[in-house]
Amino acid sequence: MSFSEGRIDFFYGGDNTAVMRKFVYMIILLTAAFTGCRQQTIEVEDAVMEAAQEEEPLLLHPSFNLTEEDLAELCSELPGTVRQNIEARPQYFLQLLLDIYKGEQELVRLVNKEQGLSSSDVPHDLVALDDYRDRLLLSRRGHQMRSVLLPSLMAMTQAARQEGIDLMISSTYRSYDYQEGLYNRYVERDGREAADRYSARPGKSQHQLGTAVDFGSIDESFAATAAGMWLKENAWHYGFSLSYPQGMESYTGYMWESWHYRYIGEDASKLEQEFFEGIQERMLRFINSKGSLLEAALI
Ligand code: DAL
Ligand code: ZN
Repeated sequence: MSFSEGRIDFFYGGDNTAVMRKFVYMIILLTAAFTGCRQQTIEVEDAVMEAAQEEEPLLLHPSFNLTEEDLAELCSELPGTVRQNIEARPQYFLQLLLDIYKGEQELVRLVNKEQGLSSSDVPHDLVALDDYRDRLLLSRRGHQMRSVLLPSLMAMTQAARQEGIDLMISSTYRSYDYQEGLYNRYVERDGREAADRYSARPGKSQHQLGTAVDFGSIDESFAATAAGMWLKENAWHYGFSLSYPQGMESYTGYMWESWHYRYIGEDASKLEQEFFEGIQERMLRFINSKGSLLEAALI
């Protein structure tokens, strides 16, 4: 008698008939078979899930057909520090981009030494700032800018004023022709090489967009003034961005201009601040070069 038979004998009180033994073996086999099948089923299910996951990798944002690898590829030319910021919060990054693409594209149009505007480009919604003298501090009569940034500029001016700081508006919209005259005068005065470091050639100035504003004295002393320091700290909350930061001349093409801000909208200014280390040129180059790829990835 085997050990198992002995156990069965014991279990059934010594009733050792062959029929009884077959019945018990059958129960055991069926139980074993069922357990085995269940195990196999679970394994098959796991494999199916894994395969499905391999076929359909996780998307980073519900509105973009982009996986982690796709986004990494899209951002591969950005500096490591910027890529780290994006890797840490990819969904927020894509959400801001989505909000920017849903908004007015002209606000994030790249205008630099390579990419410019034509002589016939004139903003469609220019307003005279003289009509807002009660809420803005103007250096002279005749300033104009796009109406789209007026509410943000007035809110920013008011917020600064509440802290005892005056934001003087010194230069705003400049037409192609006006910029041409200005640039030519600088060239006559300082020579072309020197002028190119601080003045845009006609068609290459952000002022022609009607969304750039120069504040205060428009010279190096502005950085250390209360207004200069306040803007550096707070302008981005109102959608304004410093176009030519300190130490970036080789990248932006222009010397540090602590007074020159461009309105890019609050979504873009957040994107610049939180992911692009406050470097407008880098963010605008990214948006403008990858815009069509990102648009194609929209779900
Ligand atoms: N000063 C800036 C670069 C301009 O002329 O637009
Ligand atoms: Zn300027």
